[in-house]
Amino acid sequence: MKLSYNQLKIIKNYIYNYPPNNRKSALIPILHKIQSYCNNWLSIESMDYVADLLKISKIEVYEVASFYTMFNLKPVGKHVLEVCQTAPCSLLGSLDIRKYIQKKLNIKPGENTQDGMFTLKNVECLAACGYGPVMQVGSKYFEKLNFNKIDIILEDLKKIKKHSTYC
Ligand code: FES
Repeated sequence: MKLSYNQLKIIKNYIYNYPPNNRKSALIPILHKIQSYCNNWLSIESMDYVADLLKISKIEVYEVASFYTMFNLKPVGKHVLEVCQTAPCSLLGSLDIRKYIQKKLNIKPGENTQDGMFTLKNVECLAACGYGPVMQVGSKYFEKLNFNKIDIILEDLKKIKKHSTYC
């Protein structure tokens, strides 16, 4: 994996925020950044690169990357639709919202649309329980969803050609 001079400088600044014996603390922000540089997903190669950079074992990186749903471990669409499936959102209709998106895009959770525009994911609580059903796309939250709002959101997202990311 090869980063540009500026990308590497940004990554190294994360590391310098921590004492030398606590480099590992920079792991999560670095994974976010690397993911944003790599079409919104983390390959084995990119995770191994992070392990070398932080001088930690590869398994430590894999453990963190596979635990948090915000890290994508396989190629994803330009927009990752993360629909909350936890109880408060479920009671407010998130299961119907997810099924509606599935039918509309013809994909199941964990799959990408054929045109590479969307990935659908089930996620746990997004910490906006009072505004359910909630969906996150990159750094944006969409709240109090209904079918009409989903139609509008998907049409708007289709107009955005670059990946929605957290960074
Ligand atoms: S339960 Fe959906 S945001 Fe908390």
